Amino acid sequence: MADFLPKVLIFTAHMLCFASAATDPGDLSILRDFHDGLANPDLLKWPANDADPCGNRWNYIFCSGNRVTQIEVQKLGLRGNLTRKLNGLTQLTHLGLQNNEFAGPLPSLSGLSSLQYAYLDYNRFDSIPGDVFVGLDSLLILALDGNSLNGSGGWMFPDDLRNSAQLMNLTCNSCNLAGPLPDYVGSMASLQVLLLSNNMLSGEIPASFGGSGLQMLWLNDQKGGGMSGGIDLVVSMVSLTSLWLHGNSFSGKIPANIGDLVSLKDLNLNGNKLVGLVPDSLTSMTLASLDLNNNYFMGPMPKFKAAKSTCASNPFCLPTPGLSCSLEVMALIEFLDGMDYPARLVSSWQGNDPCSTLWLGLSCDTNGKVSAINLPSKNLTGNLSPSVANLNSLSRVQLQSNYLSGAIPSNWTSLQSLTYLDLSNNNISYPLPKFSSSVKLVLNGNPLLLGNQTATPLSPAGTPSSSSGGDLSGSRSSSPTGNNSKRPKLVWLAIVAPATCLVVLLCLVIPLYFYCIKKKNTSPAPSSLVVYPRDPSDSDNVVKIAVASNAQGSTSMNGSGSGSWNSSGFGNESRVIEAGNLIISVQVLRNVTKNFAPQNELGRGGFGVVYKGELDDGTKIAVKRMEAGVISNKALDEFQAEIAVLSKVRHRHLVSLLGYSIEGYERILVYEYMPKGALSKHLFHWKSLNFEPLTWKRRLNIALDVARGMEYLHSLAHRSFIHRDLKSSNILLADNYRAKVSDFGLVKLAPDGENSVVTRLAGTFGYLAPEYAVTGKITTKADVFSFGVVLMELLTGLMALDEERPEESQYLVGYFWNIKSDREKLMAAIDPVLDREDETFESISVIAELAGHCTTREPSQRPDMSHVVNVLAPLVEKWRPFDDDTEEYSGIDYSMPLNQMVKDWQEAEGEDASFMDLEDSKGSIPARPTGFAESFTSSDAR
Ligand SMILES: *[C@@H]1O[C@H](CO)[C@@H](O)[C@H](O)[C@H]1NC(C)=O
Ligand SMILES: *[C@@H]1O[C@H](CO)[C@@H](O)[C@H](O)[C@H]1NC(C)=O
Ligand SMILES: *[C@@H]1O[C@H](CO)[C@@H](O)[C@H](O)[C@H]1NC(C)=O
Ligand SMILES: *[C@@H]1O[C@H](CO)[C@@H](O)[C@H](O)[C@H]1NC(C)=O
Ligand SMILES: *[C@@H]1O[C@H](CO)[C@@H](O)[C@H](O)[C@H]1NC(C)=O
Repeated sequence: MADFLPKVLIFTAHMLCFASAATDPGDLSILRDFHDGLANPDLLKWPANDADPCGNRWNYIFCSGNRVTQIEVQKLGLRGNLTRKLNGLTQLTHLGLQNNEFAGPLPSLSGLSSLQYAYLDYNRFDSIPGDVFVGLDSLLILALDGNSLNGSGGWMFPDDLRNSAQLMNLTCNSCNLAGPLPDYVGSMASLQVLLLSNNMLSGEIPASFGGSGLQMLWLNDQKGGGMSGGIDLVVSMVSLTSLWLHGNSFSGKIPANIGDLVSLKDLNLNGNKLVGLVPDSLTSMTLASLDLNNNYFMGPMPKFKAAKSTCASNPFCLPTPGLSCSLEVMALIEFLDGMDYPARLVSSWQGNDPCSTLWLGLSCDTNGKVSAINLPSKNLTGNLSPSVANLNSLSRVQLQSNYLSGAIPSNWTSLQSLTYLDLSNNNISYPLPKFSSSVKLVLNGNPLLLGNQTATPLSPAGTPSSSSGGDLSGSRSSSPTGNNSKRPKLVWLAIVAPATCLVVLLCLVIPLYFYCIKKKNTSPAPSSLVVYPRDPSDSDNVVKIAVASNAQGSTSMNGSGSGSWNSSGFGNESRVIEAGNLIISVQVLRNVTKNFAPQNELGRGGFGVVYKGELDDGTKIAVKRMEAGVISNKALDEFQAEIAVLSKVRHRHLVSLLGYSIEGYERILVYEYMPKGALSKHLFHWKSLNFEPLTWKRRLNIALDVARGMEYLHSLAHRSFIHRDLKSSNILLADNYRAKVSDFGLVKLAPDGENSVVTRLAGTFGYLAPEYAVTGKITTKADVFSFGVVLMELLTGLMALDEERPEESQYLVGYFWNIKSDREKLMAAIDPVLDREDETFESISVIAELAGHCTTREPSQRPDMSHVVNVLAPLVEKWRPFDDDTEEYSGIDYSMPLNQMVKDWQEAEGEDASFMDLEDSKGSIPARPTGFAESFTSSDAR
């Protein structure tokens, strides 16, 4: 008995001890829930009949006393939902759930005031309970990476997290964060690591990040355009070792004192919109890794001290590190610097010679020196740079109607060749330097100079404060006078028509009259019709079209900045097309053609591939992407000048050129879209394409349409256009089978003497006038010849040249000449799909005769196109009673978005629309069809 007692005591003590070590029943129940919520709980190997995880040391569970403090189940492959009651483990300090397949909502951590380490990363959590981060007073590490939280809408750190003042690491790469970063994140005093790559963040880096103690900041690769704004404040984060900002839309310059970041080892700025010169302080940093690819850095390509560095795809002046740029280029870059690097100019001013390729707004003299800066109404802001004084040959500077401020640099007076300086309608201030008397200075419309200026009335449209000057983003309706810019309906022509003798006179007078009326009604001028105080020699006196800005689409940034990025340099500005300089960004055209997708291909021609493009509202356009090399860089100036003119050739039966792009090697023309495609398809391939064959009536209509279009081209006021490549594949059909001629002027644009062009001419040999083929001498009569061949094709359904045919009929013209005077043979040669009643035969023989006439060997014996129209018109009349022929001439409203403009053209289909506004025509009448006196002939009148 004596030794029994101690044994009992020991036993009891043991029992007591055991009881006190037994796991807290609340914690136990949560662990059970945790276990039971899993689809594969066996992986935990927790004993089924044990009630003491703390005492018996369950796998992955750590305790302090009888309370669970750590769950460390990382990388076990656990699947299923997590118990919602996890925050009942109130003593929890470590939660390691990373790299499993937990699904459903994140567990609420609310109230876990001891929790220091929360690794929830790389699971399949998909939503966030509202209170998840409440009361995490001790939190040091929060890792949420790789959970696609809250679907497409994304989420943002709730305000509650602000109270986790100890937080050192906050990582949420690829976790679906969206929207701007909250301010408080920047002011969390303990935060050292903030990794938020691959999310959908937007907005600027909050000012609160200035001076923060962050060591690692990753904000790279944000989807949907990404973060924006400047990066100046990063230089105040002096503890930074790793800064990843690639794949965003950060803009502005690299701060000059970036070298102050002495701890920085790793800097990635790839794929942003950063501009300017690369600062020397960055060049000399001894970084481990530096990536500046895909920005808009200019000037000399730097030679970096960094161990690994790359700076490709930037518009450096030369492709070799360490070489300086030419003096002119440096002067121009500093000029851009003063104006904060306008995107349009940055993307155009590339290379080391402003005179070798086309630099927007610059002209050069014959010595290859910059002679003019011509950038009116370009929404330019900032100051004028003294560096311009280094452009020795500069004679004209036209920067009117911008938002430029500050004084004119005093050393501009040293420009010896300067004769003209127009800074009207800006915000220039004193002091005014004294220019020599040979300089014509235009300064009206600068409010700060008003006190001293002789009062010059402001032009109605020129004031920068109105939306007319340069801000093209404003929609038409936002302008109080927007409605006045409706295109003028000039019904009067129909009335004047029969009075043939008076026509010319009237046509000269009436437009002027209408212009005056219109001007009265629309003072001040409609928002986008630019009516500057006009210098007649101003070649940039253009009419502007703001293209729907939604046509641009967004750019995605996937991967580490290696993905696509916006190379257009246009940022988020609305696109600007200028008639006379109708530039559309390639990026816009990529977007509307789904990146030139093969399924959008409409056809291939001598000059390239044509794609269908669809604007956001469904409006269709045709996008012709020229083959590389068709237009060499050398020929670019001429090309642009020619395009500027062609873009103004408007006629119901000519396919309208709506704009063009030149970027790098891209040469792209944008046309109105013709739904039924080329005539050749309907004549020669209708069977395989499952088209209905063209009736005779339709063919006659097409012939007349083409003749009218060609007549118009040939009889333009100030220059005669010769098509040079008229053929049935260049005749396009609208939905109602009415025809328009396309590709006029293109052959001329391609430089002579290049083999490719010769081949192309040979390719259309079947249509070539003999004198053109032999001597290369071209007159309008060469087009008449080609037209004759098209008539033969319409008659016979045979291609102009077809080596598959028997020898004697391979060359359609030769064959046709042999048979045309023999009624039997002719009828036998007529396209078998046409019915050959007597009535048809009558017009068939007229057309056959006309075709012969057009293709006579001697050019002078071929008729003019106006004669052709006169022959064809009565034939068509017979088949087509007066119906859709309300004569109405319409101008074009350049203030409209592209899609609207296209629509208006389409609307005008039932009307005869011809319009021409060449710059060298009648003085300063804006947007008036001055050419139509000439295009108006008796044959147009009915
Ligand atoms: C997990 O949670 C989701 C909703 O959050 C629910 O739809 C699903 O049924 C749950 N799965 C299990 C196994 O309980
Ligand atoms: C905090 O983040 C850094 C950088 O990723 C990492 O090296 C460090 O281990 C993290 N600290 C903890 C405790 O996870
Ligand atoms: C004009 O001023 C700038 C800046 O002060 C200077 O770099 C430049 O050499 C000057 N040019 C001339 C021609 O005086
Ligand atoms: C007029 O110009 C002179 C210098 O040309 C300047 O000193 C003066 O302040 C100007 N007056 C006003 C009202 O701005
Ligand atoms: C014009 O400049 C202003 C000021 O820089 C800017 O806010 C606006 O977006 C610009 N508009 C266009 C069309 O570039």
